[in-house]
Amino acid sequence: TILVLDFGSQTSHLILRRLRALGVFAELRPCTTKIDELTWKPKGIIFSGGPASVYDDGAPHVDPAVFDLGVPILGICYGIQEIAWRINSKNVARGEAREYGHADVNIINVNSHVNRLFAGLGDTMPVFMSHFDKLVSLPEGFVVIGATKNSEYAGIAHEEKHIFGVQFHPELEHTPRGVEVLRNFAVDICGAQPNWKMGDFVQLEIARIRELVGPRALVLGACSGGVDSTVGAKLMREAIGDRFKAILIDNGFMRLNECEEVKETLEKHLGINLTVVNAGELFMSRLAGVSDPEKKRKIIGSTFIDLFEQEAIRIEKEAEHTPNSGKVEWFLQGTLYPDVIESLSFRGPSATIKTHHNVGGLPERMMNGQGLRLIEPLRLLFKDEVRAIGRQLGIHESLVNRHPFPGPGIAIRILGDCTEERVKIARQADHIFITKIKEAGLYDQISQAFAGLDTNRSVGVFGDQRVWGYIVILRAVRTKDFMSAEVFNFDHAFLGDVSRTICNQVEGVSRVVYDLTSKPPGTIELE
Ligand code: XMP
Repeated sequence: TILVLDFGSQTSHLILRRLRALGVFAELRPCTTKIDELTWKPKGIIFSGGPASVYDDGAPHVDPAVFDLGVPILGICYGIQEIAWRINSKNVARGEAREYGHADVNIINVNSHVNRLFAGLGDTMPVFMSHFDKLVSLPEGFVVIGATKNSEYAGIAHEEKHIFGVQFHPELEHTPRGVEVLRNFAVDICGAQPNWKMGDFVQLEIARIRELVGPRALVLGACSGGVDSTVGAKLMREAIGDRFKAILIDNGFMRLNECEEVKETLEKHLGINLTVVNAGELFMSRLAGVSDPEKKRKIIGSTFIDLFEQEAIRIEKEAEHTPNSGKVEWFLQGTLYPDVIESLSFRGPSATIKTHHNVGGLPERMMNGQGLRLIEPLRLLFKDEVRAIGRQLGIHESLVNRHPFPGPGIAIRILGDCTEERVKIARQADHIFITKIKEAGLYDQISQAFAGLDTNRSVGVFGDQRVWGYIVILRAVRTKDFMSAEVFNFDHAFLGDVSRTICNQVEGVSRVVYDLTSKPPGTIELE
């Protein structure tokens, strides 16, 4: 395993992704991690980039013990500055101008033993730079292995120890041969084995689940029909059979026909027994008149927990009558690695943008109240890896490629308080939009699309009648990681057709608009 110490760069997670794509397993920890608290010894360590300046008071720094571990180290951007600053604080200063974008690195052919980092890369390579601070002198004991027009020390290597630094970002696609740099470091210099394979993951995870859960305990799991919870459920089913209890809470904010479809897929195709709890009325009554987005999310989150608690009790009562059955001890959570990274990253105090109920909050009360423990089989995976595993487990392509759908569902796609009428309108409009997208063959080109509703109303004219109807908001984005997203470019004729169909078929709508906001500044959901 390679340890990536995170200094808060937006692209730290990409270092992991690139390494994993090479078959090298890597884990991320905050840069302030104490080395003696690690329970494993890394084969090598990478310092990520970060927004701070190494010479500022309060700037983040690594535990000096990192350098005593005797494993290879690679510093990227802030990381190279951290290495140089530790040797002498005068080595790093603010450059004359910010260097952002493309640059060409001249690879300096010091003897090949020292410059193993750039082995096989020729004389020059295009890279992506993003920095203000830079090395202004060469740290003692190092030699230059790469330089650009603006950065004399764009690549450095220690003459004897395996310590390297690069000012550019090898993890970005804009550094086309960056993967080779990472490969040289991880595989050739650190000696990490490039043998991390998805196939092994399934077997290892099933074995891990069996060991963790033991021979009798029951596991409760929420299934939404999304790819994460379905893959999680299928892994649990393979590992412990029907001791896994799958629950779908119908909160009344699901898409058209969704509950029936999810039940059919899970039961018929995946052999997972699903209990559907119909709770639409309960959710709607608790949300009556509530328009604040965070309040809505919190009410929905806590209602989910109330219902899970009830289910845990019901299942346990049932189990009392089954010989040899254990108690409900575990709660399945479809946490993915980006969520884990979010909690492991070095960020300093950051504002809560939204309370995602499948990330925090939900488990805590269940953990404390019911003494349940969390089981997170996907916690080391990125979304595309979950999809790959889904395929391997025989989950149908249409489900594997399904756009994500948030736990609070349509409720966070209605700007303001939810009523039966508004949910119905948003649901119908969404169904029309998604059906048209599928018919046009665009579904797989879009990462997420939906129709939401503005509860302000707008005047329209139908025939000779004045109507005062709702405004439907269409949203469709493309994204790799859902942390940032760009708007999907439909042609106008397509959008015109969707707009006409919605106005004609969904009663109570007088206007349809297309949301042109990327993320940031907009989030993907409307609330
Ligand atoms: P935002 O709106 O934060 O969404 O840009 C990013 C991704 O997260 C999904 N999302 C949620 N998923 N529970 C979920 O299960 C939630 O509360 C929630 N809020 C947002 C959203 O659909 C998008 O894919």
